[in-house]
Amino acid sequence: MSQLSVNHLLGIKDTTADDIELILNTAAQFKEVINRPIKKVPSLRDITIANLFFENSTRTRLSFELAEKRLSADVVNFSAAQSSVKKGETLVDTVNNILSMKVDMVVMRHPNPGACVFLAKNIDSTIINAGDGAHEHPTQALLDAFSIREKLGILAGVRVAIVGDILHSRVALSNIFCLQKMGAEVMVCGPATLLPKYISTLGVKVETNLKTALAWCDVANMLRVQHERQDIKYFPSVREYTMQYGVNMELLNSLPKQVVIMHPGPINRGVEITTEVADSPQSIILNQVENGVAVRMAVLYLLAQKRELNKG
Ligand code: CP
Repeated sequence: MSQLSVNHLLGIKDTTADDIELILNTAAQFKEVINRPIKKVPSLRDITIANLFFENSTRTRLSFELAEKRLSADVVNFSAAQSSVKKGETLVDTVNNILSMKVDMVVMRHPNPGACVFLAKNIDSTIINAGDGAHEHPTQALLDAFSIREKLGILAGVRVAIVGDILHSRVALSNIFCLQKMGAEVMVCGPATLLPKYISTLGVKVETNLKTALAWCDVANMLRVQHERQDIKYFPSVREYTMQYGVNMELLNSLPKQVVIMHPGPINRGVEITTEVADSPQSIILNQVENGVAVRMAVLYLLAQKRELNKG
């Protein structure tokens, strides 16, 4: 198979294992390209991409922009804070106005779950979800899978514990779908109040004891507590959260094997992981960020190819 089964990247749930394999293999080729002295390829010349960010971002936004520029696409950036959304314009009107300027693909981050699905149904453009509320963050899951495969050489059979605020995390949901499709085993670990009731129906192991989770896993993906999505208090204090769910070197060194540490960022140092853990040789956090560019190049390239094929 050399093309994607999907026309948009709205969520990992819609993709197949073959799609993920194709994206990861294509990303490996792009990673070689971006490590050459001349990092640019002409693959998306004459394609215009709009990056629409209705929510804050550092990594995803810069990573998409770099990926687009490495592929020689024309890029326009839109930030809700400085736009006419503030004057009451709807999402569809905003995007259609942008598309009338001959934009081919849209990368969108939005606080509302399902915003990208809505857009894909209402506008004629290729849509890539850069994170929609607490729903999905597909390119984060793909770069996480790429980084695990790069570090351990395999995904099938690898045990991954996703630790922290699972309830409010789009990273958790996309990672669960992605890792399971690739044959990995997934455990979620956190305070019971931050574990959604439906989570075990997704086929993951559920654990509230951090040390048990770390002793089980090969990889621990540490999530930030998403205070901005919490309407009530889910644990007594940040200090108590850290005491029960924070990873420090003493805890890591007490385990029978070396666990690979991941984090999607932004990190709250001293809360979910200490500075020593974040900067330790066991951490692949900056590799994840580096791999994000190659993975997003692969996604953009393959979706642009699919778009051309659909035009017939
Ligand atoms: N991992 C991630 O989505 O980070 P940003 O919010 O900075 O894009």
